Amino acid sequence: MHCVKKVTNDIVWVGADDRRLAMFEGVYSVPCGVSYNSYLLMDEKTVLFDTVDKAVQHRFLENVSFALNGRPLDYLIVQHMEPDHSAAFAELLCRYPKVKIICNALTQTLIKQFFDLDVDTQIVKENDTLNTGRHTLRFIMAPMVHWPEVMATYDSIDKILFSADAFGTFGALNGAIFADEVDFNKDYLDETRRYYTNIVGKYGTQVQSLLKKASALSIDMICPLHGFVWRRNLSDIFSKYTLWSLYQPEEQGVMIAYASVYGNTENAAAILACRLRDIGIKTAMFDVSVTPASEIIAAAFRWSHLVFASITYNAGIFVAMETLLADLVAHNIQNRTVAVIENGSWAATSGNLIRSKLEKCKNINLLELTISIKSNMKTAQLSELETMAEAIAADMSRATASVGKNEDGKTASNDSDALCKLSYGLFVLTSKDGQKDNGSINNTVVQITLSPLRIAVAVNKANFTADMIARTGEFNVSVLSESAPFSVIEQFGFASGKDTDKFAQCDYDTRTANGIRYIPHNTTGVISAKVSEFYDCGTHTLYIADVLESLVLSDEPSMTYRYYLDHVKPQLSPSANKQGFVCKVCGYVYEGEPLPVDFLCPICKHGVGDFEPLRGTK
Ligand code: FEO
Repeated sequence: MHCVKKVTNDIVWVGADDRRLAMFEGVYSVPCGVSYNSYLLMDEKTVLFDTVDKAVQHRFLENVSFALNGRPLDYLIVQHMEPDHSAAFAELLCRYPKVKIICNALTQTLIKQFFDLDVDTQIVKENDTLNTGRHTLRFIMAPMVHWPEVMATYDSIDKILFSADAFGTFGALNGAIFADEVDFNKDYLDETRRYYTNIVGKYGTQVQSLLKKASALSIDMICPLHGFVWRRNLSDIFSKYTLWSLYQPEEQGVMIAYASVYGNTENAAAILACRLRDIGIKTAMFDVSVTPASEIIAAAFRWSHLVFASITYNAGIFVAMETLLADLVAHNIQNRTVAVIENGSWAATSGNLIRSKLEKCKNINLLELTISIKSNMKTAQLSELETMAEAIAADMSRATASVGKNEDGKTASNDSDALCKLSYGLFVLTSKDGQKDNGSINNTVVQITLSPLRIAVAVNKANFTADMIARTGEFNVSVLSESAPFSVIEQFGFASGKDTDKFAQCDYDTRTANGIRYIPHNTTGVISAKVSEFYDCGTHTLYIADVLESLVLSDEPSMTYRYYLDHVKPQLSPSANKQGFVCKVCGYVYEGEPLPVDFLCPICKHGVGDFEPLRGTK
């Protein structure tokens, strides 16, 4: 019996899930299964995009037959010849002998190699097109994403990119077909990263090339050969692919991979993790003897800093660690800071050997300190672990505050003060959820289009207002005037709406037509908006919203963020005795050093980039 899914009015998914496969490509465990996608376009001509793995060939053939509904199969586009997408090729040809094969020249060679068949092919090159009636398909070569013959296909009518292996994931579809039908970030992002890093991680340059071609296209939908179809929030997956293909970390934090036979090296790694957490640095730990290398490789692509801790074994690196390092080097890991811990009861060699393996990788910053343990950590060595933790923290602060790389590899400074040269406004962002009114201070509202009239606002997820907008999709923006006193900033910016009624002391209850409150005094205007799109930007959510109502409230100048800093925010009196950091936005003082790299101001929710050392601090 067939099992198909409708993708668009004339595209049907005719693939299948496989949950019995233990090891994908014989290497990668797939505990949640994998999908082999194939798509059938029902235009004036019928077009099949790739076939499937032999494990699901039977179901696939039933699906194709059902979806064709008696029509002939006119074209088979072969985008990728790896057998997980081509194993059903020969059987398909037996059943549809008149089908025309569309492929590139290298694919034709591989068809001959795999099947020893002479088939009727139409060879296509970059930007060649195939008209199928309503649709026009354009072929885009994507060599080494993941094999050299790979090509993608762009449907310029419905703006669909059939992307072959790109943008896929491990994991069965479980009845869904679109990424927005599932909690993708929670349930599939890790597997998408593991799929990308292990399958095409080595080929970042080639993926960049495909991304560049894709950026020139208008794309509304991505149909990959594994995993979900993307029809919404395409920027989510594009932005991940950009980071991964540039070998840039997704998050600041430390991945610790350790090899330990009797637990002593593991303990050193655990103590280091504790010290890192003590200073606010995220950590992820893996025992290389237990966790599959593919998971650790994916984590290495995720985190900014890597620590390898290994015993010495047969005068070398412990075997599982050695395999992991070889895999990481093979997958082209780069742009990371690395620290090393070795253990050797009589002749420790693993530290230098680990360093020499990673030195081959591009732009790896190996921290000078290698901690060498003899059998077990000694109390006197605890300070070495603290020193390593501090060195990692210092490196992370440098990375987050000021250092990037130009294309030519030269260091480029990012002076955060340059961002302060941008002109920002200052606003009270209000929302209403049921009977609950709330507001917070915001400085990122801009108009983005006139027709339709739309604005954008970035909202820190740590703010209660962010939760309310996420639930209701509506908000008001009250534009503060230069006459607004600091007390307005305190009222809406220095407390959380979770446990405070920010309007409790107000003698007004002014609302726009949407029922949401606005601030009638010390403001120049109010704008009501309804969210049409949103984008996850890590710490913030970027909302794009349609303007429903807008009112001018006064002719005063609107307050800029610069004006607030220079004229409204109270100036701190110097403190010679205190050591610590002060939030440049609201004046909150963090006492002590160092400032944790992921510290968020508890008052205004700004990050470490908005803190500066207190005067009197070294
Ligand atoms: Fe899913 Fe490269 O095959």
